[in-house]
Amino acid sequence: MSSVTLTHLKNLKQRGEKITMLTCYDATFAHELSTAGVEMLLIGDTLGMILQGHDSTLPVRLEDMVYHTACVKRGNNGGFIIADLSFMTCCSPEQALHSSAQLMQAGAQMVKIEGGEWLCDTVRQLTRNGIPVCAHIGLTPQSVNVFGGFKVQGRDSHQAAALVDTAKKLEEAGAAMVLVEAVPASLGRTLSGAVSVPVIGIGAGPDTDGQVLVLHDMLGLSITGRSPKFVKNFMKGQDDIQGALKSYIAAVKDGSFPSAEHCYSE
Ligand code: KIV
Repeated sequence: MSSVTLTHLKNLKQRGEKITMLTCYDATFAHELSTAGVEMLLIGDTLGMILQGHDSTLPVRLEDMVYHTACVKRGNNGGFIIADLSFMTCCSPEQALHSSAQLMQAGAQMVKIEGGEWLCDTVRQLTRNGIPVCAHIGLTPQSVNVFGGFKVQGRDSHQAAALVDTAKKLEEAGAAMVLVEAVPASLGRTLSGAVSVPVIGIGAGPDTDGQVLVLHDMLGLSITGRSPKFVKNFMKGQDDIQGALKSYIAAVKDGSFPSAEHCYSE
């Protein structure tokens, strides 16, 4: 695949073509995903649960993120690489800048940061220093202890309006992408219409500009045997991993994933 850029991703949104993203933590899968045509590879801090066996993303260190970003960079064949700022690595604009610099130097082309409108100063600081930012809103797993569990967000109309307002403010501050997790499908649609940057959803319905899943989830691999409602096992009916990846890409592009069974209602 020719190298995916932020401009290309914005054009996809404008043309109404769905964007594909999967998490990725190592060189071999980076090669598999990018060769299959997955447009964005996310070194998510879910690596704390998926690779390290923790029960949350909180123990993940910046060094872990830098290490796995460098691994993905080495195997990547043109995918757009996004790396997470892990827990406690971005508590101030200055700390976020220092942490992001390490991720960008390891091979990231964008950093993802969890939170709300209080991130605006940080987004401005990173953007003005040449670091594109994806703002992760809705269910932000680093705040699982504040939420009291992994809970669907934006179900009541006040919360939903606040999330739309947050997305607009983050875009105004310079965020080049929004990722929204675990919200009703109707809110996913509203968010995509409210901002001009790509909105990528996970558990946010079929009408966001693109979709992301945790790689191991969509390959049917799980330590606990449980998976969230929004996960589909794309290995089913496929002979190999390339088959599963191609099936995911096709289902996102033609809008058949996520279907109603993978969506939250209001
Ligand atoms: O860390 C991660 O893998 C993520 C996805 C759940 C989107 O943020």
